[in-house]
Amino acid sequence: MRVHWSSRIAFVLAAAGSAIGLGNIWKFPYMAGEQGGGAFVIVYLACILIIGLPILIAEMYIGQNGQANAVTAFDNLDKKNSIWGIPGYMGVIAAILILSFYSVVGGWILNFEYVSLFNNLSEMSPEQVESILPDLFDNAGAQLFWHAIFMSLVVAIVYAGVKDGLERWNKVLMPGLLFILGILLVKAFTLDGFGESLAFLFKPDFSKLTATGLLDAVGHSFFTLSLGMATMITYGSYLSKKESVPKVAINVAFLDTVIALVAGLVIFSIVFTFGLDPEGGPGLIFITLPKLFAQMAGGKFLAIAFFLLVTFAALTSAVSILEVPVCFMSEKFKISRHKVTLACGIFIYFTGVLCALSFNVLKDFTILGLNFFDLFDKATANWLLPIGGILIATFYGWKLGRKAINETLKDIKSKALKELFLWTVRLMAPIGVLVVLFVKLVM
Ligand code: TRP
Repeated sequence: MRVHWSSRIAFVLAAAGSAIGLGNIWKFPYMAGEQGGGAFVIVYLACILIIGLPILIAEMYIGQNGQANAVTAFDNLDKKNSIWGIPGYMGVIAAILILSFYSVVGGWILNFEYVSLFNNLSEMSPEQVESILPDLFDNAGAQLFWHAIFMSLVVAIVYAGVKDGLERWNKVLMPGLLFILGILLVKAFTLDGFGESLAFLFKPDFSKLTATGLLDAVGHSFFTLSLGMATMITYGSYLSKKESVPKVAINVAFLDTVIALVAGLVIFSIVFTFGLDPEGGPGLIFITLPKLFAQMAGGKFLAIAFFLLVTFAALTSAVSILEVPVCFMSEKFKISRHKVTLACGIFIYFTGVLCALSFNVLKDFTILGLNFFDLFDKATANWLLPIGGILIATFYGWKLGRKAINETLKDIKSKALKELFLWTVRLMAPIGVLVVLFVKLVM
């Protein structure tokens, strides 16, 4: 018998652990900041509802009913060596590429946690705080070191298995994450910038929204819900057939969205209190925030709590990415899970080295004008994930079709709602994604 999560809560925590990651705490706030806040938030929410949630349900359904790894799950629902296994194979490749740069960023976070713990940010000049990240970029050795530590943690968790590794650690780290975020939210509430932060995120100013903002919102709805590369298929394959997919999917999408919004609220409260620029870009949590922590009362504690929060979020996502190739290879080639975990971990460490060196040694080495780090990021977020998502939605909506959808929504009485869901999966979601791909291609 295949291992299963021991409870529904365990699955929700694991899937939410996968979804809630750097996407929520690092990417979402800086994207919203750059795109003028409220208007971007509204588009993002719409994308989660129309594109993200239906594809999340599709992936969980395929996993739960296929009861196997990314590729074999499709075979089990269709036929042996089905060509529908293609999105599964794409997922395995995407997982390797995503984890390569994700682990490098995970390493930066560990470095900032280390600095917050052992250096006194408040004794550093603003220029010194500002230069922590660029200095880290220049220092190939340090990056490789932190990348190695982060990857080792990920491998250790996955090595222990679905129940003793993934489930156990998500049960500890996810409540820990919610707790720290709660404390930070209370702190943010006492800051002068809280009101402004609230207005910034929830009062839309559509004149600030650009075409890039629209496209980014669609791409990000994939990334933040861990969609398009069979993560949720793999996690869903450990879900017993008794559980209701729509319920868990809604829980996960809701948690993921709330956490992104709260993280944004906390970060912008700090930013506005100190009159800084919300358009800090990718440096927002690594440059803007530490500069503020250095000046704030209780900043040391806040910095430690904040980077611990991000560490937890990044780890629970990274393990879900590694689980995709590990589950696939151990089942497909019947190799022991332990061996595969170590082999994949080492392999991805080395593909990650290319990303870590993109900022220093290999700075001038580019493919299509992108260094390895950006290439892996863009190739997955802009292409592999959306195309994977379209294929998965098509398989679920057209190939499995009405029968699967009726089964998914068996607890729902309303015929109209079922029809709406069917056509969202069949047309709205894939077309939404296709339009974005097309615009990206001509832009
Ligand atoms: N969703 C995670 C985040 O927001 C990242 C992630 C985990 C992911 N698994 C994934 C992204 C699969 C794309 C595909 O940080």
